[in-house]
Amino acid sequence: MVRNEKNSQQTNPRFSEIIQDALDRRSFVHVVLATACGAVLLPQTGTAFATTGSRDPLHPADGHERTQLFHFHGVPASQRDAVVVPEGYVAEVLYRWGDPINGIEPRFLSDASNSAADQERQAGMGHDGIEFFAIPGHDPNERGVMCVNHEYTDQILLFADGLEPMPPAKMPLEKVRKSQASHGISIVEIARQPDGSWKVLDSKFARRLTANTPIRISGPACELIGTEVRGTMNNCAAGRTPWGTYLTCEENFQGVFGTDQPGFEPNERQRRYGLTAAGYAYKIDGQNVSAYRWWQQDRRFDLSVPNNDADRFGYVVEVDPLDPQAMPVKRTALGRFRHENAEVTLARDGRVVVYMGDDQPDEFIYKFVSRMPYDPNNKESFGVQATGGLLDDGTLYAARFDNDGVGHWVELSPQNPALATWTAAEIAVYSRDAATLAGATPMDRPEWIAVDPKTGEVFASLTNNKGRKVADPASANPRANNFYGHIVRWFEDDRDAAALSFSWKVFVLGGNPALADDDKRGNSAGDAFACPDGLKFDSSGILWIQTDISSSLLNQPGFEELGNNMMLAADPQTGEIRRFLTGPLGCEITGNTMTPDRTTMFINIQHPGEPADEVSDSLNPTKYSQWPDGPDGGRPRAATIVVRRLDGKPIGQ
Ligand code: FEO
Ligand code: CA
Ligand code: CA
Repeated sequence: MVRNEKNSQQTNPRFSEIIQDALDRRSFVHVVLATACGAVLLPQTGTAFATTGSRDPLHPADGHERTQLFHFHGVPASQRDAVVVPEGYVAEVLYRWGDPINGIEPRFLSDASNSAADQERQAGMGHDGIEFFAIPGHDPNERGVMCVNHEYTDQILLFADGLEPMPPAKMPLEKVRKSQASHGISIVEIARQPDGSWKVLDSKFARRLTANTPIRISGPACELIGTEVRGTMNNCAAGRTPWGTYLTCEENFQGVFGTDQPGFEPNERQRRYGLTAAGYAYKIDGQNVSAYRWWQQDRRFDLSVPNNDADRFGYVVEVDPLDPQAMPVKRTALGRFRHENAEVTLARDGRVVVYMGDDQPDEFIYKFVSRMPYDPNNKESFGVQATGGLLDDGTLYAARFDNDGVGHWVELSPQNPALATWTAAEIAVYSRDAATLAGATPMDRPEWIAVDPKTGEVFASLTNNKGRKVADPASANPRANNFYGHIVRWFEDDRDAAALSFSWKVFVLGGNPALADDDKRGNSAGDAFACPDGLKFDSSGILWIQTDISSSLLNQPGFEELGNNMMLAADPQTGEIRRFLTGPLGCEITGNTMTPDRTTMFINIQHPGEPADEVSDSLNPTKYSQWPDGPDGGRPRAATIVVRRLDGKPIGQ
């Protein structure tokens, strides 16, 4: 990869230093190959890192070493059906699928026989993005409101009798309603207990948003899709605004749309968003069986119906966690795609900048820049009641990563000659096509994006892409077959988040350092990992990385040394990466939020026990995992867990 000396030295001196010190690719890869093999094979992980000059990062050799960003004993790769955290830490289950939002009732029935009505007052499935908000008048380190996304349902584990009755019988209305109620988000109040653990409280803030909750639509798309819709769903990762609202991001909405109309073929625009007649389907006995079939009871999910709701999903939705009466709002100016997270920061002049990834191979990275700066006194311009305010009025861009280490933000508006015939509404609804026409760079499945609070540097995880086929070492997506994913980093020019160009580098390649193949060899300075997904900085500057190796690859050849999905701490300056937590069998680790004092971390365990083919066994629900409730628990359950230190000090320090 060729570094652009002029640009990075003039505008990003610190970035240049980082590259010089730690990311000169030739020597960097060499050092890591010599050290990280041991990190994979030996349980004493993390101590193999040697690029700062200290043999043991926990005990720097002299006072001139830079201060270590994190201090914990890394955990080994795991194939256990358990959450494993470092010595001196504890992980406790807080809020599982089926737990009541008021902490009291309706109780979860372990045979999954809770009704749709019960499910509307219980945690949904597929816990993903999460944020913790302070409540005025309460110590935010002791008590607060937690928003949790429920991304999708395992349609077999959700019901006592799995997928019965099988097609051609229709999906019963009660099952459709329970599935819809298990999507969306939870808002719950939680508090620390005298013994240090946390619990869900009976609270005026407790509520569920589901696929049937009335939601307002705002921004340029209204011209095409109207101003209201029922539901937010497939809520993947999240974000938070400076004014205290939650941003929940709609991702794989295509899975619940479909049709039984014979001969139906999606049109070009539907195809670009992955909409098909079958929707998401399980492969059972060689047959594709549509998992959701909501359209059989709810015509708005039927793709053959004119003006169906497909164009009304795929947005970032703003929610007020402290106002249960406030209707959430879809902010269409932020584009429509398979949104991962929404990382909010401010430009130098105070304009609001939102970074976003579109999670599909060869889709794009986006950013939105508001027209006006954030002014805490101008209350009309922000919050869920605002129309035409900061998140409705601005410019959407998509990223172009050139091979010289420089990138450009291409404008998605009718002002761009490539989009001169497009309306703002069309760009908001068909953002993918607009970004293609504008020349954005297809990426290796953009997942989370995180901004370093100390430097403003931006990090984006690119989880994998098996279809690129051509290696290009100078590219931001350098691998031909990127099974293991990578993380790219960039500084905006002039360190201004609203800049129109930037300087990028690859931060780290996922993979096994012991493998010779360029497509598979990772270069983590420390512990090996693959398929980075969740990325979040804490206020101390640790970059937390969460992985999502697909169930079909977990512990399979080429992935066996990596074990179950995990969470790692990374130092953005030195590049050191150390494994902090490993999850139970078949799960993904996702979502990450902390109390302000960083003594409590909340993360999510999604789809524990998901089998390789994603088809769970309704007759033997604990076949692949018994987490978190053990052998008598009935079935594995996605859950929010609390991670804290036994000595009560900040996580990672
Ligand atoms: Fe919801 Fe891209 O993970
Ligand atoms: Ca994800
Ligand atoms: Ca993922």
